[in-house]
Amino acid sequence: MKHLLAPSILAADYSDLASEFAMLNASPADWVHIDVMDGVFVPNISFGQMIVQQMQSLSQRPLDIHLMIVEPEKHIESFIALKPEVLSFHLEATHHPHRLMHHIKNKGVKAGIAINPHTSVDLLDDVLEGLDLVCMMSVNPGFGGQKFIYRTLDKVRKLKAKIIERNLDTLIEIDGGVGLQNAEALLKAGADVLVAGSSVFRSEDPVLTMERFKSIEINNFDL
Ligand code: DX5
Ligand code: ZN
Repeated sequence: MKHLLAPSILAADYSDLASEFAMLNASPADWVHIDVMDGVFVPNISFGQMIVQQMQSLSQRPLDIHLMIVEPEKHIESFIALKPEVLSFHLEATHHPHRLMHHIKNKGVKAGIAINPHTSVDLLDDVLEGLDLVCMMSVNPGFGGQKFIYRTLDKVRKLKAKIIERNLDTLIEIDGGVGLQNAEALLKAGADVLVAGSSVFRSEDPVLTMERFKSIEINNFDL
C-alpha cells in the first residue's frame, strides 16, 4: 500500500480555517489529522467537538481524529457521530482499551490506539487483532513543532514485524516531528501514515511539501 499523508491542523492558522481547508482540499493530503487536547492528559488545550464539526464541514478529506483526553469514553459518542475515517484514543488514558476499541468499531468507525513515547508496543499485543491503526507518538503529546524522538524507529520496526507475522492489516501512523528529513526512514521502518504539522504548514509552499511527502518511494522494509 502506498503511504498516506495526514497533515495536522494543529499547525494551521485558526483565524482563517476556511483558507487552510481550501488549501488542503486542493492538495495531495489523504486525511486531515485533528488533535483534540484537554489540558489534563496533555499540558495543553486545543479544541473540542464544536470546532471539529466546523472543520469537518470545511474538509473534503476524511478526518483522522486523535483524542488526547482523559476518560475518552465520556466523549466518544460525539466524536463517533462525526463519522471520521479513524478515531484514536490513548492507551494510557483508559482502563478498558479493548472495550473502547470494539465500541468504536461496532459503530462503524475505524478505531486507533495512540501510544506515548514511553509506552512499549508489546502492550498492544492483546488488542492488535482488530485494531485498525496504531498512532505512535514520536514526541511527547501536547504540542506541535517538537523534535522527533529517534528511538521511535525501533518501535516502528518491532510493531511492523508483529503485524506482518500475525498477518494483520493494522496501519502504523507516526505522529510528531515528522518531516521530509525522516519520512523515508520511517516508511522503511514500516510506517503507513505520516502525520505532519509544522513541516507542512510552516513550509513556504505547503502543497509542494505534501507532494514531496507523497512522492517518496520505498522498495522494501528495513526491519
Ligand atoms: C502532538 C500532536 C501532533 C502534532 C504534530 O501532540 O499529536 O499531531 O500536531 O505536530 P508536528 O508535526 O509539528 O510535530
Ligand atoms: Zn496527533
